[in-house]
Amino acid sequence: MARRRLVYEGKAKILYEGPEPGTLIQHFKDDTTAGNGEKFDVIEGKGVLNNRISEHIMQGLNSIGVPTHFIRRLNMREQLVRSVEMLPVEIVVRNVAAGSLSRRLGIEEGTQLPRPIIEFYLKNDELHDPMITEEHMIAFNWATQQDIDDMISLALRVNDFLSGLMLGVGIRLIDFKMETGRIWDGDFSRLVVADEISPDSCRLWDAKTGRKLDKDVFRRDLGSLSDAYSEVARRLGIMPRPGEETGRRQGPKLVH
Ligand code: TMP
Repeated sequence: MARRRLVYEGKAKILYEGPEPGTLIQHFKDDTTAGNGEKFDVIEGKGVLNNRISEHIMQGLNSIGVPTHFIRRLNMREQLVRSVEMLPVEIVVRNVAAGSLSRRLGIEEGTQLPRPIIEFYLKNDELHDPMITEEHMIAFNWATQQDIDDMISLALRVNDFLSGLMLGVGIRLIDFKMETGRIWDGDFSRLVVADEISPDSCRLWDAKTGRKLDKDVFRRDLGSLSDAYSEVARRLGIMPRPGEETGRRQGPKLVH
């Protein structure tokens, strides 16, 4: 059997050519990085959890008419997605002050913001993903005005959906990062939500205790990252069965 073609390898995911034209296979690794790769670890089972959580969120978005690249999950670590032209921009939506917003502007972590704040960052590891404005995106052709309007509209819809989904299981959505890609239909194009939405790219705090259930557990050495992500999956009702889906290596099994 021919080996499948690797299209792109990032810090936490690999993209392979998909089975049909216009599709890709998105593979979730256990590799975990922070600070642009300065902190690194392999956390067993993380890829499985993120694959499952991202599937749940993307399916939910598709079902309420927010377009995403997600087609279906293929196995524990992989999902079939539409091939899109990724915009070189990360969109961050914030509901509560935390992380770089608190650091840069001196606003205490945990302060509820009066309205969701949307920020844009250029996807560029060498430059450490600098924050950019709409002016930069238009001047340097990273996105058109229409793209920016669409990104804002998608980001606010994802924020509403995700805030409600999480609050329903006792979790506050503090902030999250998302990415968009372009799909062509003849001469026309539209943006869809792409990449992943998982505890790797969100801040999620327990609504009662404030316990962190996201990648800050790794960034700030607060305990077990897989326990935190498992808790999110468990509350969403999508926890893989023990042993079966964590990706942990098992001994040989008898097949009846
Ligand atoms: P920040 O407070 O560090 O700017 O992060 C804001 C949100 O974006 C947070 O939920 C983590 C997420 N994020 C990523 O997913 N990838 C990144 O490279 C960065 C900087 C943030």
